[in-house]
Amino acid sequence: MQRLILLAGLLALSFGAVQIPVYRLIQYEYEGTHLGSQVSSINYLGAHYENTQEIPRKITMIHISNLSIESLETLLGHKPSAVLIILTQSHPQGLKELESYLGTNSFPFPIYFTYETPEVMDIYNYLQQQKGDQGSDIDQLQFSLSTDEKPAAKGLAQENYYGFVYEYSEALPTIALVTYYDAFSIVPELSQGMDANGSGVITILELTKYFRKLFSTSPPAYNLLLVLTSTGTLNFQGLRNWLDSEDAELQQIIGNIKFALCLDTLGKGSDLTFHVSRFPSKENEADIAKLYADFNKTSSITGTALNYMKKKINMADSFIPWQHENFAKKKVLSATLSHLPAASTSFIDRSSLYDNKENIDIDAIERNIRFIAESLTRFLYSRDDGNLVVYNKAELTSKESIGFWVEKLGNYTRFTTKLAPGAEFPKLLKETLNELTNSTFKVQKYPVTDYTLYNTKGENLSVYKVKPAILDLYIFLGIFGYIIVLWGVIKAFGKPFVSKGEAKRKTK
Ligand SMILES: *[C@@H]1O[C@H](CO)[C@@H](O)[C@H](O)[C@H]1NC(C)=O
Ligand SMILES: *[C@@H]1O[C@H](CO)[C@@H](O)[C@H](O)[C@H]1NC(C)=O
Ligand SMILES: *[C@@H]1O[C@H](CO)[C@@H](O)[C@H](O)[C@H]1NC(C)=O
Ligand SMILES: *[C@@H]1O[C@H](CO)[C@@H](O)[C@H](O)[C@H]1NC(C)=O
Ligand SMILES: *[C@@H]1O[C@H](CO)[C@@H](O)[C@H](O)[C@H]1NC(C)=O
Repeated sequence: MQRLILLAGLLALSFGAVQIPVYRLIQYEYEGTHLGSQVSSINYLGAHYENTQEIPRKITMIHISNLSIESLETLLGHKPSAVLIILTQSHPQGLKELESYLGTNSFPFPIYFTYETPEVMDIYNYLQQQKGDQGSDIDQLQFSLSTDEKPAAKGLAQENYYGFVYEYSEALPTIALVTYYDAFSIVPELSQGMDANGSGVITILELTKYFRKLFSTSPPAYNLLLVLTSTGTLNFQGLRNWLDSEDAELQQIIGNIKFALCLDTLGKGSDLTFHVSRFPSKENEADIAKLYADFNKTSSITGTALNYMKKKINMADSFIPWQHENFAKKKVLSATLSHLPAASTSFIDRSSLYDNKENIDIDAIERNIRFIAESLTRFLYSRDDGNLVVYNKAELTSKESIGFWVEKLGNYTRFTTKLAPGAEFPKLLKETLNELTNSTFKVQKYPVTDYTLYNTKGENLSVYKVKPAILDLYIFLGIFGYIIVLWGVIKAFGKPFVSKGEAKRKTK
């Protein structure tokens, strides 16, 4: 009997809980479909993905190096109640397909990610040992996370910023430098987008610093407009809103754009590609043809390959692969400069979970900034020199300065839900633009309508040991049996036995 009481006491005993930081798979609605992970809260025993008979009704852990579409489908086929994926710090192979699978399907249970740490691997390895029916004396692991079921971010607004490097003159034609500042990945909390939009922001900031100085000493016969939009990762909704604005002043500014140079994914690679929907005509748009010639000239002097990729706009496709297509639809001559040789085919495809600080090549981004500065300087000041005009100037940009922005951007999650008006990053960006240009950038606020996103935050998952369920059953049966026997004894022997028992206890 004492042993039973001791065991019963153990039932309530839990070992010190371990907290592991976890990040949930995206949850969103698009065109009326609910996608991603639909549930947040967890309260399940754990299982290792290899122990398939353990998976049903449990939270199943799988390491990214073992994760493929096949292993994931097998795992899901065993009906887990939740999935926890362990990520490595370095980029694993074949992630694109998986990201696309996770980002475009609907999962009616929680899917979380965590990073590999010794603690997490201990838990993973511990679970691996729990194969099948291994008796009653191995503790099981309980995983628990209670959180609000994340509400949709209804009425989410975002901001576009635009302004000029130097005073705007309506009498002069305008060249626009355009990029987006948001980031996307299938795990919102881990959206850094360094190469994708981050590189565009960094390039624009560095070019602004340089051209501001240059224009202050000698303004060219062009305006240089800067446009930084949000929801670039969500089909360039921000840019579309900006171009569709009914604000008379903004319409005038847009009407004055001779050429829009859109920046995208400039943080890697050894060459550059101009993506266009059409080339300028040599007769009517000779000045912009000259701009391309200036880029060609920079390419030939520096030896950095510059490719051209012409792609007609597909009006039937709701997915917009490049920013410039929004300009082209408004009949504004435009192009996107990127290290990517081809357009992506979906917005999930365009982003990566591993597009972080480690994914950006500072040498490449510096070379690209110098390349654009050189080409634009040649164009804006009608320079036809056989030698480089500014490319090698130390004050143009530097690795330190770029590294500073990379670190700064890396400090913020730039997923759309984190960029509502007044949020830290957009505020910082606007202040930086104002400072660099000594002016006040205009803000255009717009509602996010194409996608319904869900709010997210980093959470801790607690993991603690519990006695296996089979032991609970033994204890239950033991206690139940004891009571039955006791009841039988009392019934059979009646009062005398009870008083005898009491007497016995008193003597103890
Ligand atoms: C899981 O990945 C590890 C490390 O890459 C590897 O050693 C192991 O064999 C994999 N397991 C399975 C079942 O593929
Ligand atoms: C720029 O170079 C490309 C590729 O060499 C060429 O096709 C194009 O005509 C050039 N453009 C101009 C304006 O010189
Ligand atoms: C980024 O955040 C870290 C830690 O909070 C801080 O030490 C660092 O100064 C920040 N970097 C920049 C460039 O703001
Ligand atoms: C910034 O602008 C203000 C007023 O518009 C002017 O007084 C000041 O000299 C400018 N500063 C610089 C560094 O150009
Ligand atoms: C998770 O736990 C750590 C350490 O226990 C704590 O510092 C951190 O703030 C927690 N995070 C959240 C989101 O609660």
